[in-house]
Amino acid sequence: MDRLTFDYGNMMAPRLSGRGIDPARLDAMADRFSGVVRQVERQREDGTLGFLSLPYETQLVDQIRKFADSPASLFEDVVVLGIGGSALGTIALRDALLPAGWNTLSADARNEEPRLHVLDNVDPRTIGPLLDRLDLSTALFDVVSKSGTTAETMSQFLIVRDRLRAVLPDEEAYRRHLVFTTDPDNGVLRDLARKEKIAALPVPPNVGGRYSVLSAVGLLPAALVGIDIEALLAGARAMDQRCRSDVLAENPAGLFAALQWLAHTEAGAPIHVMMAYGDALYSIADWFRQLWAESLGKQKDLDGADVFVGPTPVKALGTTDQHSQVQLYVEGPFDKTFTFLRLGEHTVDVPIPEIYGDIDALAYLGGHTLGQLLDAEQRATAAALARHGRMNMTIELPALTPHAVGELLMMLEIAAVYMGALYGIDPLNQPGVELGKRLTYGLMGRSGYEDTELPDADPRWISR
Ligand code: PA5
Repeated sequence: MDRLTFDYGNMMAPRLSGRGIDPARLDAMADRFSGVVRQVERQREDGTLGFLSLPYETQLVDQIRKFADSPASLFEDVVVLGIGGSALGTIALRDALLPAGWNTLSADARNEEPRLHVLDNVDPRTIGPLLDRLDLSTALFDVVSKSGTTAETMSQFLIVRDRLRAVLPDEEAYRRHLVFTTDPDNGVLRDLARKEKIAALPVPPNVGGRYSVLSAVGLLPAALVGIDIEALLAGARAMDQRCRSDVLAENPAGLFAALQWLAHTEAGAPIHVMMAYGDALYSIADWFRQLWAESLGKQKDLDGADVFVGPTPVKALGTTDQHSQVQLYVEGPFDKTFTFLRLGEHTVDVPIPEIYGDIDALAYLGGHTLGQLLDAEQRATAAALARHGRMNMTIELPALTPHAVGELLMMLEIAAVYMGALYGIDPLNQPGVELGKRLTYGLMGRSGYEDTELPDADPRWISR
């Protein structure tokens, strides 16, 4: 089977007229990198890096299959209630692996699989009309919260529960419309699952939200809409095996991390743009943004000293953003690197008809396909950036398949952990989001958070 390829030639100084990474600097990382791999392997063994075990969890797959294939799970709509790491992976899988516009297709075009909605916010203008539109009697709600305390997800749940009970007063009928994906032992959702006999799947305690896409968090909704989760996990396993190598040149996640770290710390490029060539890949760039930002943006290093590190991830869409952002990327400051996502093969393509053969500005397009145009534009953008001395690399998926997506997600998760080791920070925690949560609790009147008063707005600095 073809596997994912990673071309980093355009990161290297000889291709960028001297800007970019000196190959000798990359070679010099070899020893340090093998130390990083040893550390990661130790953390795999001691269970710190739980996400590395997910592709091997056959029992979980059986459990998910059992749930997804049971007649009780024949729904027309699946709605994931969750946010951040409990939502972005599912959105990435849906957008990459289901036909475009899935939720607007007829049941026949969806092979009778359900539509898949992922809330990922608490905007009343989105959620209100969605719930009004849905036929709750044919909808399944997957409440995904590892902690079971996230205000956004819990408020979504309270609203849904209330509406479900209104249309399904019968206890037995009501509970069939809910499944919880949460900590296996603790938390409000787990308690409710026990008390109200609601089906529940586990999020392993050693798997953080942004590393959880290959747990029940992403796998259950994926299986419910017919995505081949076994192939997804097989791809992740294949990548995990490739990344067991402590030889930097052989380890794609290692090269990705080492180059990004060098680009940031030695070549003055703290901004990392992931530019997806194709709408289906764009949500993977969005998922990556969270993975990179929450894992690597840290105040403290592992010794507790202030370091204030972290690259800034940005997402972009090709070709759309060629007409919006690329002017800045090509001629603006040398503070960015670019990672292109592209496909080796377009299994869905559209031919461009050969008409107006006598008009030069149109004739050259005829006889090609939109996929070829997309590919040509990606190669051209990468080359144009390189000619202007801008570091860029390209990840090519052989095709848009569950196997290839599994490879990609795993590669980026492993790279995040390597990056954490290179920066000397903990890529698994997120202390920076706590204060905002506490202040929200205070504003919403949660008991125990009365001391979190906010200052009033100062009229001197308000323009009305
Ligand atoms: O990656 C993370 O840890 C976060 O984005 C969480 O996934 C997010 O805050 C939701 O948390 P929970 O699943 O506990 O509701």
